[in-house]
Amino acid sequence: MHIVHTIAELREKLSGFKCPAFVPTMGNLHDGHIALVNQANPLGDVTVSSIFVNRLQFAPHEDFDSYPRTLDADAQRLEAAGCNVLFAPREKELYPEPQTYKVHPATDLGDILEGHFRPGFFIGVSTVVLKLFSCVYAGMPGGVAAFGKKDYQQVMVVRRMVQQFALPIEILAGETQRADDGLALSSRNGYLNAAERSEAAQLSQALRALGIAAKAAPPHDLPLLEAQAMQALARRGWKPDYLTVRRRADLMPPWGDVADQPLVVLGAAKLGNTRLIDNLEI
Ligand code: PAF
Repeated sequence: MHIVHTIAELREKLSGFKCPAFVPTMGNLHDGHIALVNQANPLGDVTVSSIFVNRLQFAPHEDFDSYPRTLDADAQRLEAAGCNVLFAPREKELYPEPQTYKVHPATDLGDILEGHFRPGFFIGVSTVVLKLFSCVYAGMPGGVAAFGKKDYQQVMVVRRMVQQFALPIEILAGETQRADDGLALSSRNGYLNAAERSEAAQLSQALRALGIAAKAAPPHDLPLLEAQAMQALARRGWKPDYLTVRRRADLMPPWGDVADQPLVVLGAAKLGNTRLIDNLEI
């Protein structure tokens, strides 16, 4: 596997290929990332991953500085998974000057849920993803890029960006990988202490219970069920931002018969100082 730090080196390593399979990450890789590499691998003629902790998607009070950076271990895992090129740019390489041109996702998708609780988050994500896409795919007929469904809204934001800008890139959504107790794998799980770690699976259990209750209830009961689910987590010491049932198509609240619609239950809550997110399609 080639490890490159500049856009020029990346493009040089990719010259001669036609269809990169790309897995962008912020590093500190876990089995969820490796599953994405495995999924993307057979779909391109070269497999590329990036590791870049993107300052643009962190608010000033968030964990940009403490975000785990484990490049050597990550490189070993990627190589073992069959990745051909790892692009690990320094900040000055991707942002040699302040990034004043940014992608602003449509507010109906980008300003709800995660975008509401983390204002600017999807602007930061979309901007860096477009820039990474331009580093990897410039001059290529097309390619595929894989993102994890744990960041459900992120996948939708990226898909819509690709569609609106007519980028020749197919977006794959990889299933969320979970620990034995159901906790969705995430780099931020490493922040949890032992007691928090044993509590953390309650988030996926709360989403599952809310999904089951929602399927059996009339739509006008959903706000009450959601409020009760949040209160139940709060009684256990969590600080929930949202637990909510949405349509998979557009993340809007469902109307009509809940049982007939493809839905997803999404949640975000803080446990101690760690904010966890998860979702379940129902
Ligand atoms: O999901 C992530 O790790 C990041 O949001 C991404 C897509 C790599 C952009 O920085």
